[in-house]
Amino acid sequence: MRTPENLRETLEDAFGAPSAEVRTVFVPYRVCPLGAHVDHQLGQVTGFCIDRGMCMAFAPSGDSCVRIGSMEFEGQIEFDLEQVPSAVTGDWGNYARGAAQALSQRHRVCRGFDGVIGGSMPIGGLSSSAAVGIAYLLALEFVNNVEVTPAENIGLDQFIENSYLDLNNGVLDPSVILLNERGKLLFLDCQSGEYEDVSPPSGVFSFDVAIVYSGLSRSLVTTGYNRRVAECREAARWLLDLDGQPSSNSSVLRNVSRDAFERHAERLSDAARKRATHFFTETDRVRRGVEFWRYGDIASFGKLMNESCESSIRNYECGGPHLISLYEILSQTEGVHGTRFSGAGFRGCCVALADPGQRGNIIDAVQRLYPVRHPEVADKYEIHFCSFGGGPETT
Ligand code: GLA
Repeated sequence: MRTPENLRETLEDAFGAPSAEVRTVFVPYRVCPLGAHVDHQLGQVTGFCIDRGMCMAFAPSGDSCVRIGSMEFEGQIEFDLEQVPSAVTGDWGNYARGAAQALSQRHRVCRGFDGVIGGSMPIGGLSSSAAVGIAYLLALEFVNNVEVTPAENIGLDQFIENSYLDLNNGVLDPSVILLNERGKLLFLDCQSGEYEDVSPPSGVFSFDVAIVYSGLSRSLVTTGYNRRVAECREAARWLLDLDGQPSSNSSVLRNVSRDAFERHAERLSDAARKRATHFFTETDRVRRGVEFWRYGDIASFGKLMNESCESSIRNYECGGPHLISLYEILSQTEGVHGTRFSGAGFRGCCVALADPGQRGNIIDAVQRLYPVRHPEVADKYEIHFCSFGGGPETT
């Protein structure tokens, strides 16, 4: 685990930053128990922050250069804010360059920073990309004295991913990170931007957030993520056309009424029907799940998480063999209320809401079954027990 103190010391050693000028920014990771793969179709989602995330120590560089070292990745990022270079496929420096480009489109950003960044968990499925993007935005805003609202930062992070990196994702990740209050469930409408942080009834809610990392991490840009988004949009266009409604290349499934889906589903291709089925059934699960959460019914909430994961596998057709194995193992383990792939489902981890008294049982089930099914990641998978987290903090 990278502590803010480790990062501060590394920054002072590597860049000679005067300790009085060093700040740290911590940005939490998020999980999305219900509402998977629907944010890019402007659907409704849920999510909450966990008590792990990315941390960066930073200090003004004294000029317009940004220089960042990482505890996880090789090499150093270095660029001038006066001339932010374009994205380089697969390069970890993209998020910092993207953040600089996003912010400088709306604000005067001429002061750079030196930074050292590190994460407290393996990468994949916990929105580490949004977390780093937001960490860089907050550092640039701090050293340039720029005031930015959470809503604007959500838009800036979306610019990094959609425009700078060409990943056609939605606003789930930055919204959960920036809008969720500790211990509550964010319920967000990605079309209207309206949201509620839903409190469970006091006293009845206590569970572990178990995160089981599959051993596989890779950038979403190189997965089938954008292909699925395009398939959802095609399903939306098709349904709107069949229904005699106006459609365009930017149509999304949220523009389609449930009635139109039910009337025309049979005329869609197999793939389009499955993607739309996921969207409409996930919408139901989100709405029901929010009510279960509100009344403290974790067993029913958990059952919906399992159904959501089954729909990700069957209808959204994501999840490689590793994630499917983890889902199967966890969903059959005593003490797990509910589980699903965390994030896009192409890599990363499964999240489970679990009884804290059953930790040993969960570790035992994963250790007994997972490495036998996937010996190639036997020394890479990890099990973590986390709890609720709060939003970003700069100190
Ligand atoms: C990734 C994307 C999000 C969202 C989820 C799946 O985390 O970044 O926008 O689509 O996958 O729900």
